Amino acid sequence: MTQFIDTPPLPWNRPSIGAEEIAEVVDTLASGWLTHGPKATRFEQAVRDALGVEDTFAVSSCTAALHLAALAAGISPGDEVITPSLTFCAAPNVLTQVGARPVFVDVEPVTFNVCPKAAEAAITDRTKAIVVMHYGGHPCDLRAFRKLADEHGLLLIEDAAHALHASRDGQRAGSVGDLAVFSFYANKVMTTGEGGMLAGRSELVQRARLLGRHGIDSSVWQRHGTRSTADYEVVVPGLKYVMPDVTAAIGLQQFAKLPAFTARRAEIAATYTQALTGLPGLATPTVLPGVEHGWFLYSIFVDPDSAPLTRDETAHRLLADHGIATSRHFKPVHTLQLYDGAVTHPLPVTETATARQLSLPCYPSMTSQDVDRVVTAIHALWNR
Ligand SMILES: Cc1ncc(COP(=O)(O)O)c(C=O)c1O
Repeated sequence: MTQFIDTPPLPWNRPSIGAEEIAEVVDTLASGWLTHGPKATRFEQAVRDALGVEDTFAVSSCTAALHLAALAAGISPGDEVITPSLTFCAAPNVLTQVGARPVFVDVEPVTFNVCPKAAEAAITDRTKAIVVMHYGGHPCDLRAFRKLADEHGLLLIEDAAHALHASRDGQRAGSVGDLAVFSFYANKVMTTGEGGMLAGRSELVQRARLLGRHGIDSSVWQRHGTRSTADYEVVVPGLKYVMPDVTAAIGLQQFAKLPAFTARRAEIAATYTQALTGLPGLATPTVLPGVEHGWFLYSIFVDPDSAPLTRDETAHRLLADHGIATSRHFKPVHTLQLYDGAVTHPLPVTETATARQLSLPCYPSMTSQDVDRVVTAIHALWNR
């Protein structure tokens, strides 16, 4: 029976917006310049310098960045692109939109990132690119994928939506691919409400920038004050994907706080791992040596054969009895209606992971009481 909950519900995620973000937005609103301009440029420069990449372009979402990445990379009808199924639908959708075929391959059992060997086995003479995804903020084997892409003449695109500030063997997630994309959606490690960033090799990012501002040969900020804003040429059939300065204002302040946000997420993750390790049938995440985890997700994996509850019962009881919301990442893309029948390679690890995975609340504004509440609730469920 559902117990009476006398404390407010604990959401799965909550953004951390402070006085700094509010002041920066107010400053932008008062400045007279609202669209992509000086603040978006500063935000792009800050991310570019932190990653050590050649160029960055701030856009309206990570999905927009993926679309521009696919277009700039010349991914076209008939191309195959290797991608995990254990991901959000954004990359497979974009690939499908440009006429390419997403080829779903399995993930590794420890990190739940695409397995380099499975990716290699899926390469054909139609393969154009590999899209890796850093699951939950744990970077994939970047060195292996760079080598694989180079050996086969493929483009490497990093879907780093979860992993800004994560690194592996000294390489930042998002700094190794020919192109990389980040998400600033409301639940991400830093947010602008909606927003994204494209990073990578300069000729590709420049092409994406052109495509993302209607195919117009200069930005309105470049024209402002120097010539008529109507004095432009359209050189390719573009789209409109730029990030406005109002949004970039939030991004500038959130990006400055990202190291502190990540440190707090790591603290919460360490507390969970210490408190939950050893519960029967419950696996906590593994962090490989040399990895700085981004901790977008803190996943537990519930084995239905040895745990007292299934994953779905755990999620239900946490919410119903303890007021604690959780989430699942992800419903694998090959199981979504649109992709029915799209599987060409076995996905056993993906299937097992998706049946067991549960994302616990893990975000900087959680207090130690919030973290204790989650731990106590899980212990209570396991000891019933
Ligand atoms: C792995 C991954 N890629 C892409 C996206 C799309 O991000 P956006 O909502 O910023 O377009 C998400 C969003 O959750 C994601 O998890």
